[in-house]
Amino acid sequence: MTLGTPLTASATRVMLLGAGELGKEVVIALQRLGCEVIAVDRYPNAPGHQVAHRAHTIDMTDASAVRALVESERPALIVPEIEAIATDELARIEADGLAEVIPTARAAQLTMHREGIRRLAAETLGLPTSPYAFADSLDELRDAIDGGIGYPCVIKPVMSSSGKGQSTVRSPYELAAAWDYAARGSRVNQGRVIVEGFIDFDYEITQLTVRAVGAGGEVETYFCDPIGHVQVSGDYVESWQPMAMSATALERSRDIAGKVTAALGGRGIFGVELFVKGDQVWFSEVSPRPHDTGLVTLASQRFSEFELHARAILGLPVDVTLRRPGASAVIYGGVDAKGIVFDGVAEALQVPESDLRLFGKPESFVKRRMGVALATADDTDTARARAKEAAGRIKPRAA
Ligand SMILES: Nc1ncnc2c1ncn2[C@@H]1O[C@H](COP(=O)(O)OP(=O)(O)O)[C@@H](O)[C@H]1O
Ligand SMILES: [Mg+2]
Repeated sequence: MTLGTPLTASATRVMLLGAGELGKEVVIALQRLGCEVIAVDRYPNAPGHQVAHRAHTIDMTDASAVRALVESERPALIVPEIEAIATDELARIEADGLAEVIPTARAAQLTMHREGIRRLAAETLGLPTSPYAFADSLDELRDAIDGGIGYPCVIKPVMSSSGKGQSTVRSPYELAAAWDYAARGSRVNQGRVIVEGFIDFDYEITQLTVRAVGAGGEVETYFCDPIGHVQVSGDYVESWQPMAMSATALERSRDIAGKVTAALGGRGIFGVELFVKGDQVWFSEVSPRPHDTGLVTLASQRFSEFELHARAILGLPVDVTLRRPGASAVIYGGVDAKGIVFDGVAEALQVPESDLRLFGKPESFVKRRMGVALATADDTDTARARAKEAAGRIKPRAA
């Protein structure tokens, strides 16, 4: 593997499609390895824009805009950071040999849509999942539930993320409202939903899984320690690593993660979301990119998930060693305002073994993730308490 010098003819050029807080950390990791990094997002001054060699603002669902930018920047690698991208155009770019898509264009196509990845996992690979069905109308939805899914169930737009448009329905009376909510929360207003049987899990984890070139020159699969997390209305609020699990549940989790990531192929990190009850494990979904709950690895691992992604996509070796038990706690904006300020930073960093990322987003919303507090400790309970304490001491406000 050869790496070049940025801003010269030998540069190893990498284009990030999506430059939020996760993309920003990937950009920094690539910059450290001397790559030339081009960050793309749909709004100016996105977090990753601020640390890249060049920044572009385009509509990434616009196939011709994506094509034109790739043709002018000529990156060797295209790294999707979000789901809402013109993935069919990425497939054409890959097929034309213009650039390599991470991990593969097909993985980006399958995972941008709940139907693609769910059918692959459950029907092609035979992995355990919640019972599910797809529906294009309220009537179809009712039929699917009455026909076997039952109540409670979870209804989600087939194209959405971060819990948008998602609701748990406990009785037929709530169904019409859930259908309307899903139609509004869909990224592309196509009014198609997945309905899943509700899994009464003990806990849920993210199994970060890395596909990287090993010593023998072949792609191998590496498993980080499992990450436990808490979701509130489909959005992560805290995570910790390692999550204590039974040996059987861990083995099953890794078996599922290994199979689904092998089917998606390519190189890079994947966030495999799993539900666990006792020794039973269900596949939920997978991101072929760093996962938000994996922000904890900035504190807990020898190499964060972002550094692992950078190494893996460049064809370099990885090391998934856990350094110390850790935790992350999300800092929300709390206000709707532009150019906000953060009070309490010094107080937050007085918490033992704490650290902080402020993402630099130009505009805050009450429920927008603006930063994350990190902490380590002898055990995850202490790390969680520290991360939450540090996050709570940060007071965002309008300037
Ligand atoms: N079938 C289900 N049973 C129980 N909880 C679920 C189910 N589906 C989703 N959830 C809960 O909602 C969260 C978000 O759902 P997910 O499918 O991961 O959507 P998103 O793509 O928005 O992250 C999950 O992490 C889990 O806490
Ligand atoms: Mg999820």
